[in-house]
Amino acid sequence: MSSNPSESFFASSPRGLEAILADELRSLGAQAVTTAAGGVAFNGSWETCYAANFHSRIASRILWRLGSFDYATEEDIYAAAHSVSWGQLFGVEKSIRVNLTAIKSPLKSLDFATLRIKDAVCDRFRDETGIRPDVDRLAPDVRIHCFLAHAEGTLYLDTSGEPLFKRGWRHASVEAPLRENLAAGIIKLTGWKFDEPLFDPMCGGGTFLIEAAAMALNEPPGAGRSFGFEKLAAFDLKAWNRVRDGRPPRNKVRPALFGSDIEQGAVASAKKNLMAAGFFDLVKLQRADILKVEAPASAGVMVANPPYGERLSDADEMAAFYPQLGNALKQRFAGWRCHFLTSDFRMAKMIRLSPSRRVPLFNGALECRLFEFVVVAGSNRK
Ligand SMILES: C[S@@+](CC[C@H](N)C(=O)[O-])C[C@H]1O[C@@H](n2cnc3c(N)ncnc32)[C@H](O)[C@@H]1O
Repeated sequence: MSSNPSESFFASSPRGLEAILADELRSLGAQAVTTAAGGVAFNGSWETCYAANFHSRIASRILWRLGSFDYATEEDIYAAAHSVSWGQLFGVEKSIRVNLTAIKSPLKSLDFATLRIKDAVCDRFRDETGIRPDVDRLAPDVRIHCFLAHAEGTLYLDTSGEPLFKRGWRHASVEAPLRENLAAGIIKLTGWKFDEPLFDPMCGGGTFLIEAAAMALNEPPGAGRSFGFEKLAAFDLKAWNRVRDGRPPRNKVRPALFGSDIEQGAVASAKKNLMAAGFFDLVKLQRADILKVEAPASAGVMVANPPYGERLSDADEMAAFYPQLGNALKQRFAGWRCHFLTSDFRMAKMIRLSPSRRVPLFNGALECRLFEFVVVAGSNRK
């Protein structure tokens, strides 16, 4: 297997956010930044890797690239994985898990290929030490990732551990919460400035509000969690301390944040999460129907993800809802830039406002659009 002498990494992200992830990583010192579908490749020192884990609001994981290999069969993959000196990368007492993703791979069973990588890692350890690491699928110490393209594979070690969108503040769950990194990316896409009011009128568990508060205050998203790199042999405590201790002071701004939801349970969940994140005092929360709620300021940024209406009955309900939403925005939100993330592409027509932007984004595997409607008093009707 060929491997690169300088450290190279791949930061994965929700699809559609690659360009803003690339900007974010550049600002953290990443070099040779190139975007791909679903992430960004970059080079950098271990310190850059730690900074990316600690500060990136957009990345899902930062993977350390070990090397690439050609393959045609599972046994080629076994041989490539067996050629890595795993014992130099982490101790045999660490539990492992192997993840495999593939695009256009000719292999019949990706599960079998995953098993062969696990076998190769364990065999290599046993050859060298007489013992093999345990496998732990739920909470492994070390995650090994393999990406298979048509005839080339790449092996990575995960430096993040739990995915980076797990910030540590989500204590109350709601139905269909947005991932934190997707919410943060959407807020960046809206162009929100910290001195503008921001309102999520369908706030669910409060993801947009918490990400907005963290951004405005310059609170690192990784401040409340640990990382996979701490378990690797290459872990450099001094470099990690430099990253953690070098965090910038909190911004002095006090953003004007507003949230509401029609469900009392969602408002309670948002409150719990905001308290866990330490931002409850920054947000005015209330129970309200978006069709009736008053604008909390004369202008600002609205951002929300309505229910998607995936079931047929919901789809009918949403079809009736969109024109009413359009009317409510025209009546009460003139002066606001309103953003909605949805996989229901009918929204743009049925709301009877002309979108000024439509940004393709993926919420997991679900293709979505972020629609922006700039609401102007009494106008904008199609
Ligand atoms: C997809 S969820 C939003 C999830 C949220 N972004 C999060 O990350 O937790 C949609 C939310 O819209 C709320 N909702 C549905 N109809 C509403 C209405 N007419 N007014 C206000 N909220 C509504 C639901 O209660 C639900 O919490």
